[in-house]
Amino acid sequence: MELTDILKKRRSVRRFESRPVPRELIESLLRLTLTAPSSKNTRSTRFMVVGDPETLGRIARMRDFGSAFLADVPCAVVVAGDNQTDLWVDNAAISATILQLAAEEAGLGSCWVHVNGRPQRREEPDGPTATEHLREFLPLPAEWNPLCVVALGYPADSPKPHSEKDDSDKIIWLD
Ligand SMILES: Cc1cc2nc3c(=O)[nH]c(=O)nc-3n(C[C@H](O)[C@H](O)[C@H](O)COP(=O)(O)O)c2cc1C
Repeated sequence: MELTDILKKRRSVRRFESRPVPRELIESLLRLTLTAPSSKNTRSTRFMVVGDPETLGRIARMRDFGSAFLADVPCAVVVAGDNQTDLWVDNAAISATILQLAAEEAGLGSCWVHVNGRPQRREEPDGPTATEHLREFLPLPAEWNPLCVVALGYPADSPKPHSEKDDSDKIIWLD
């Protein structure tokens, strides 16, 4: 698929077929993702691939809003940044985006579920965080900071591509 078609077609998918995503396919997606640009070529992004249903169920409880569907996905990739660089968030965001685009090309659906800076409970913004919850049971090295979890799988939903909008107010031209 051409990049243009991938960009036009991609939508977030939150319902997947139960069939697993082959490990070799996930490996090839991560190899592509590891080519992402990074500040000073620090390559600070790290990945933890989770397919175990019990662990996915625990990840789904990291927030009480917007993450519950992770309990039923075939695969989730925790995208984290090594704190060797102050730009780990930026680097990891680029990596997660490239992972989503590579997944789309491979016929998979994906959805970004946010972790960094989010409380576990919406009503308690200063309470326990999603990151603290993940650290309770995932073997995340101390220097890895999770940015988001990317759900991956064969889509059971096919959301319509975004319609072309007049977004001209989002662009300033200095001719
Ligand atoms: C930074 C970021 C955080 C997001 N967090 C969540 C999330 O926590 N839960 C979720 O279901 N979707 C999440 N999404 C997916 C967005 O809801 C989705 O990209 C947006 O609604 C646009 O829809 P589309 O991806 O289908 O174009 C997130 C996306 C981004 C880029």
